[in-house]
Amino acid sequence: MELKASSSLVVLTALVLLFSSSSVSVNGFDIIKILSNHPNLLAFSDLLSQTKLNEAINKRKTITVLAVDNSSIGGLNDRPVDEIKNILSVHVILDYYDMNKLKKLPKTSSWTTMFQSTGNANDKQGYINCTRLPGEQFVFGSSVKNSPPVAKFVKSVFSQPFNISVLQVSQPIVAPGLGDVILPPPPPPYTPPPAMPPKASRKKSNASAPVAEGDDDEFAPSDSPIEAPIEAPAPEPVEAPAQSPPEPKDEAEAPAPSSASRLYLASGVALAGFTAMAFI
Ligand SMILES: *[C@@H]1O[C@H](CO)[C@@H](O)[C@H](O)[C@H]1NC(C)=O
Ligand SMILES: *[C@@H]1O[C@H](CO)[C@@H](O)[C@H](O)[C@H]1NC(C)=O
Ligand SMILES: *[C@@H]1O[C@H](CO)[C@@H](O)[C@H](O)[C@H]1NC(C)=O
Ligand SMILES: *[C@@H]1O[C@H](CO)[C@@H](O)[C@H](O)[C@H]1NC(C)=O
Repeated sequence: MELKASSSLVVLTALVLLFSSSSVSVNGFDIIKILSNHPNLLAFSDLLSQTKLNEAINKRKTITVLAVDNSSIGGLNDRPVDEIKNILSVHVILDYYDMNKLKKLPKTSSWTTMFQSTGNANDKQGYINCTRLPGEQFVFGSSVKNSPPVAKFVKSVFSQPFNISVLQVSQPIVAPGLGDVILPPPPPPYTPPPAMPPKASRKKSNASAPVAEGDDDEFAPSDSPIEAPIEAPAPEPVEAPAQSPPEPKDEAEAPAPSSASRLYLASGVALAGFTAMAFI
């Protein structure tokens, strides 16, 4: 009885080990799962699923995905699936580039994309150029001659050094010959700022600074141990609000993955440091 129980325990343990080890080696990351934490990238994620590029991405060990957000993806939606697949496979780079690596790039670099590995690429269609501008700005465009760098780097969305990085760019890059170009979205219409009436509008916004009137007593010189300076003007009620209004939050991002990616980034920095030391 006892023997039977213990042997079944051994079998169970073996099974658990088998399953856990196989699930680790088979599936390191899942691009759809990564993107599911970013609601503004879900339309892009859907296109990866439709074209099955997600499967090709998940099979790689070292990859960077240039993602575009919902508002910029519209120009792709109504095209044939094959065309979307070709275009999007130019957004999948066969190397790992995170923020840390971007900063160390030469002024221009040419990156090999997944489209190159299909064998269907002519000329430089399978490559994109990354150009580094001053102030940690980066722009991307097709490497085909005379292609403009249409997509601006927006932010790093996810990184798992040195396997997968997701960078958000401002719009899709359509290499010449792969489909109609997508024009950048028009800038928002210009609305002149309203003329600022001196102080009359203060009462209107109760969300911002506390209005001075009620606060006069708090700041009256009599309450203050410090003597008023000689030329003190009539005490204008203190302009600066006691507590500043709360900062607007970036609502696009879930906080959890960003702290995780910060961890990855930190370990990436450490690793890069060691690598650099090894070379010296
Ligand atoms: C990450 O990349 C390394 C080096 O290429 C590779 O050995 C490892 O299997 C990769 N990890 C995953 C989860 O793909
Ligand atoms: C982005 O588009 C997808 C569907 O295409 C939608 O499910 C998702 O809610 C959208 N996200 C935002 C933030 O609008
Ligand atoms: C892309 O970059 C390469 C080298 O970095 C450069 O020779 C080439 O002219 C660039 N092409 C475009 C279209 O910017
Ligand atoms: C501002 O105050 C008015 C009246 O006191 C109130 O109805 C309104 O909800 C307040 N608005 C904000 C943004 O607090």
